[in-house]
Amino acid sequence: MDVFRKKPVADLLAQDSVRGPGLRKRLGPVDLMGFGVGVVIGTGIFTLTGVEAKNHAGPAVVISFLIAGVVSLLAGLCYAELASGVPTAGSAYSYAYVSIGEIAAWIIGWDLVLEFALGASVVARGWSGYLQNLFDLPTSIFGESSTVNVGAMAITAVLGTVAALGIKESARVTDALVIVKVAICLFIIVAGAFFVKLSNWSPFIPKSAGPVGTAHGTERTLIQAVFGLPPAAFGVGGILSAAAVVFFAYSGFEAVANLSEETRKPARDLPLGIFGTLAIATALYIGVAFIVTGMVNYSDLNEGSPLASAFDSVGASWAGTLVSIAAVCGLTSVILVDIVTMGRIGFAMARDGLLPKKVAAIHPRFGTPVRITVAVTVVVIAVSGFVSLHTLADLVSIGTLFAFVLVSAAIPILRRTEADVRRPFRVPWSPVIPVVSVLACLYLMLNLTVATWIRFAVWMVIGLVVYLTYGQRNARLARTGGAKPVSTMGSR
Ligand code: ALA
Repeated sequence: MDVFRKKPVADLLAQDSVRGPGLRKRLGPVDLMGFGVGVVIGTGIFTLTGVEAKNHAGPAVVISFLIAGVVSLLAGLCYAELASGVPTAGSAYSYAYVSIGEIAAWIIGWDLVLEFALGASVVARGWSGYLQNLFDLPTSIFGESSTVNVGAMAITAVLGTVAALGIKESARVTDALVIVKVAICLFIIVAGAFFVKLSNWSPFIPKSAGPVGTAHGTERTLIQAVFGLPPAAFGVGGILSAAAVVFFAYSGFEAVANLSEETRKPARDLPLGIFGTLAIATALYIGVAFIVTGMVNYSDLNEGSPLASAFDSVGASWAGTLVSIAAVCGLTSVILVDIVTMGRIGFAMARDGLLPKKVAAIHPRFGTPVRITVAVTVVVIAVSGFVSLHTLADLVSIGTLFAFVLVSAAIPILRRTEADVRRPFRVPWSPVIPVVSVLACLYLMLNLTVATWIRFAVWMVIGLVVYLTYGQRNARLARTGGAKPVSTMGSR
């Protein structure tokens, strides 16, 4: 039972051209940035800014966003090297398969379900809530208090259909939504600047307030539970704990790497797509956080809808309505890209035999993995319709950070084991940057709650059972006798 068998990189590179119709190569750098910004900018900036400024960091939530952006950039560098050198659907899952082995690949694929399928469900419920607010829709079928969240189910069904119809169609819808939300973020920065009161930025880093909150038991962060630390509010500790939470706002940028097989010039365009997404998101987040904490004193920020409420509180409620519309658009594109991405990861896993092969079939006309896309959509509809996911949102972050840890670790491993693979983009100062990236992600993971860790562990144990009873036996490598590394030179 060889759970550490590895897939040769050459096999990975050749696979999309050798078996039946592959995914269509239709995407360029602007499409990739559209998808990236589409999935990254969502609930994070529209809600967490207020919660974290008010409770943990004050105006210095700007620094928290910067720290989370730097951690994302470190992982982004690692993704860019792997995605440009090994352009394959499945990204982190596939990188783990060639560097660490099959069991790590399975674990990461299973883990990514949390990020993308659960992420889509969480955001679909958020979308339903915002829409209910905006148009005063019946709370019986929209928003968190509904028994059956018909709003969340309906938006998921519509977006799942778009995802199945074609990658270019998904790109067009995403681009339109992205233009609206980026325009509104810029609007917040420019229009909000007129309402800034400099006194609201003073003190920029409020003095540490010592232990706060009633967090205890499984609601404490793992680092607090292990070292017996009190919850940090304000000061440097507050900035760091807010950084762990606002990291959620950056999660998803690596979805760009999953579109490698559909990219026309992956070597050039994937690094552009990843760094472009991170640059746009970081600039907008820092700008918005600056302005909002300048408009309203951090202690008065609204936790549910801080951006819209900031405009309401300065008497510009028309602007507040605009911001709410942007939030609805913003969340729509997050759901769409989450479904598209989950489809690619499932496709890659089924192609390797870790899931039933039939689900990987590409539709001859649409050029998309229709079956897995429909399956993902059905799961997201079921979960978002019936399960209150509020407390599960942190699972998205832990899933993302765990993937970042493995992807960063894969860089030095692959540089040794697959030294000959052409790397159009190389992480500078390897192994220092990958190691710092691993440590930074682990640090942020430690700042998530014990409850999140327990849920994460349970999900992973279920995944291991599925792997040992199905994937391990049916894997393509099990039938071909494991990886016999073939020369990767000249394969590209
Ligand atoms: N980064 C995404 C958001 O903030 C998940 O909604």
